[in-house]
Parts: sequence; C-alpha cells; structure tokens
Amino acid sequence: MITFKSKSGSVVTEKAEAILIPWFENFRKLSGTIQQLDNASSGLIQSRLGSGDFKGESGETSIIYTQGAIPAKRIILVGLGKREEFDREKMRTAGGSIFKYAQNLGIKKVFVPARLVETEGFNSEEGLEDFLTGGALMIYQLNEFITNEKAKKNRIEECVVVVNNKKQAATIKATVKRTTVICSAVYLTRDLVTLPANKKTPSILANRARAIARGNKLKCRIITEAQAKNIDMGAFLAVAQGSKEPAKVIILEYRGGRNDQPPVVLIGKGITFDSGGISLKPAEKMERMKDDMAGGAAVMAALQAAAHMEVPLNVIGIIPATENLPGGKAYKPGDVLTSLSGQTIEVISTDAEGRLILADALTYAERLKPQCIVDVATLTGACVIALGDYIAGIMGNDDSLITKLKTAGEKTGERVWQLPLAEDYFDYLKSDIADIKNVGERAAGSITAGLFLKKFVKDTPWVHLDIAGPAWFEKDKAYTPKGASGFGARLLIELLRNWEV
Ligand code: BES
Ligand code: MN
Ligand code: ZN
Repeated sequence: MITFKSKSGSVVTEKAEAILIPWFENFRKLSGTIQQLDNASSGLIQSRLGSGDFKGESGETSIIYTQGAIPAKRIILVGLGKREEFDREKMRTAGGSIFKYAQNLGIKKVFVPARLVETEGFNSEEGLEDFLTGGALMIYQLNEFITNEKAKKNRIEECVVVVNNKKQAATIKATVKRTTVICSAVYLTRDLVTLPANKKTPSILANRARAIARGNKLKCRIITEAQAKNIDMGAFLAVAQGSKEPAKVIILEYRGGRNDQPPVVLIGKGITFDSGGISLKPAEKMERMKDDMAGGAAVMAALQAAAHMEVPLNVIGIIPATENLPGGKAYKPGDVLTSLSGQTIEVISTDAEGRLILADALTYAERLKPQCIVDVATLTGACVIALGDYIAGIMGNDDSLITKLKTAGEKTGERVWQLPLAEDYFDYLKSDIADIKNVGERAAGSITAGLFLKKFVKDTPWVHLDIAGPAWFEKDKAYTPKGASGFGARLLIELLRNWEV
C-alpha cells in the first residue's frame, strides 16, 4: 500500500516531483493554497485555466511543468466537475484519475495540500479522505506472481499531505491515519480475492486470519472439520465433502466494547472455489469462481480495520471456508442434510452451496447472542442480472439495520439496493421430503436465496448483502481497476465506525 503522511508547511516550498490539485469546472477565482502556488509560479495555474485546455471536467487531468518557477517540478490538475453536481464519488474519481496519471509518469512521491479546495461548504477532512482513497484504490495491483521485473509497473510509494494551518494538524493526521486503515483493508480484501484458489485454500485463509489476529489485538479461532462434525454443522460439511482440502470455519473476534455488550456479528461467505460441485458450472469463465470468498475477505478486512480504529464495539467475524468441488465423496442433488439448526434441507443443486454454509454460520452466530448479524456473500447470479456490478442487493428482517447499511452505502459509494423478502416466495422452497429445499424457481432467485437464509435466523436483527455483482469488475471503474473490487470492506467499516452503542 502507498504510504500516506502529513507534515506542516506549504506545498509552495516543497521540492516535489509533483503537487496534485483538484479543481472545479468553471471555477476561475484562485484562493488559498492554489493562489499561493500561482503567485509563486508567476501565474502558471491561472494561465492554464485561462487557456481553455483544462476545463475541470470530472476526472480530466492537465500537467504543468514549472520550469524552476517553484521548487516543485510539476503541478498536476484534476477536474471535479461542476460544483453543483459535486458529491463524494467525484472526489474519489478525481483522486483515482490523478494518481493513475502520476503513476504512469513514473512518479514515486506526490504532494497534496491538506485543504484541497477553497469553497464554502467544502469539508476538508472528508474531501481529503476521499481524494486519497480514490488514489490509493486506483493504483492497486497484485504483483506477487509476476517474476519478470520489467513487467511490473511503477508504483507511487508515498503521498505527503501538507498542512499549512497549525490548528488543523491533529485532525489531518487522524484523517490520514483513518484513510490508511481503510485503504489497507480494501487492499487486503482485493489481495485475498485476487489470489487463485490454489493459493488460498481454507487452511491458507485460516493462517492469514491467525496472522491478522496476531498483528492486531484480535482473537482467532478455527473450527476444524472434526469439530464441525462434533457440533453437527451438517450443511457446511456437506459442501466441504467433495474436496480433499480440509474446510475451516474462521472466527475473528475484536473486543472494543464493554464486557457485557452483545457483539455485532459479521458473516462472510468463504467458498475459495465454486465449481458448482456435481451440478457443475459451465467451463466458460469458471476461473472467476475463485472470487466466491469475497464476502469472507471483506469480513476479515473489516475486523482488521475495527481493531486498527479501536471502535468501541465487540465484533465477531465468522467465515465458513471450503471449496465446492465434484468428487467421489461429493454431496449430490437429492441428498437430505441436517443443518446445525436441526432443520433438514433437500439439495436440489449443489451449486446453491453458499446458502448452505451460511445457514450453519447463521445458527452458530445466533448462539453467540449478538445484537445483530450482517452476512456478506457472492450468493446469486440473479443478483448480477438484477443490479449489475455497481450495486449490491440487500435484504433483511430489520429496517433500522438496513437503513444503517443504505446510509453507509451512500457515504462510501458502495451502494446497496433493497429487495423485498416477500414471504409468498417461500412456496418456491417447499420440499416433498425435507423442511426446505435449497433452490427455488429461476424467478426471484436472489429473494429466494434470502428467504432460505431467513429460515436460519430466529429473532436477531439480520441483514444479508448479495455482492455477486460488485465483488468483481470486468472493466476499470472510476477508482477501481478491473478485477477484485474489495466491495464490502468499506461498507462494513463505515457501519462499524458510526455504530451508536
Ligand atoms: N457463487 C455463485 C453465485 C455467483 C454467480 C457469483 C455469478 C458471482 C457470479 C453461487 O454459489 C451460485 O452458484 N448460485 C447459483 C444458485 C442457483 C443454483 C440457484 C446461481 O446463481 O446460479
Ligand atoms: Mn454455486
Ligand atoms: Zn458460490
């Protein structure tokens, strides 16, 4: 991850490779730090704005070579679009665009003024957090498996935030730290999701969780297959049966609240590869099914961030982790499973494995007497059809928890859209032989998956996030390169940050 730092002073006197400046479309009047830069460089910024070559459209970049007029070699401008259309996503987009531009030039270290824009009503801290977040997230890449040094791209290694107002130093320092924590969590999520299945078996994931716990005042406990058998996690174990890789239930616990405060439980689907099992998926694009633990990765990252931020809460993360493979021992369509809750499930498709492992995780979670449960899962292709890859589906039994997540979605840009858990569709899940079957009709596929999960929650406030779409991007987005997006991590962190105890 890029290192963010803050220091006191003025960008005007920094001997920087580049100073980064965001700018609103149609703004003409310079003020604050930008004016100081312009004065010191005898009008370089004003003349660029006057030239018409840079309008300030959202994400547009323009570079100014200072030719020795100031110690910095370059000033790079990036557009924020129109003031009246501004929102936090525009600032992240600007950050993404300009950091990528600078990185492509081979620049290693960039400088930004702490107050990015001088205009009424502009929140410096939020603006800075968003600009840096967009920047860090856009320049993400996993080089681990590239052995050819030349094929590895340049990286911006450091970004220095320069604070010229002494009174702001402490808050900016905190903002920089918070941004580092959040972006590191997204990087962790993306790293884990990007890893191929042979490099992130349930055992390897469990070891990663242990390492995260050691570094961060978290407790980590792993439920092995033998232990899962002892407590009768029959639905989880059925999915695990087809794979030779031992399955694990990973539990991370953070205690930042009072001893008697019930925990917030986060559950993340941790299928490290979903072949579909005996109900085998088509070969095309099957390699993408390594991302089927994206919910689990986001939960691990949220626990890491909760510890870094010392949120005043008790939080438990539960990640049921296994491969879903066909094999001589694999579970089969028609099998009847007894879940941890005691309810029986008829397997119609072994490819509807996510809800099976989540069912047992939900029962396990409820026994911890939590104040609420949030599960995050790449659960249904139907959700991708309904909402695409920008927006996650959200369902649940508690309006106030749903509202909290909707608010977190608006703030972070990780948007969610509610689907109705209409009880009418329970009809689709009626089994002739067991209490419930694991697949309904094609219609309302995301809702019936949600309803299935609901059967395993008694009266705990619970929300289910279906991130099958936004977990993975096929193309670059404004501040997310194609591939694993890390979706869910920022959403969960925002939820925990603003929790009212
Ligand atoms: N992991 C998949 C869901 C998925 C599909 C995620 C596409 C990302 C992209 C899940 O386990 C699955 O296979 N769901 C089935 C359910 C069906 C058998 C009822 C699906 O959506 O097709
Ligand atoms: Mn599946
Ligand atoms: Zn799956």
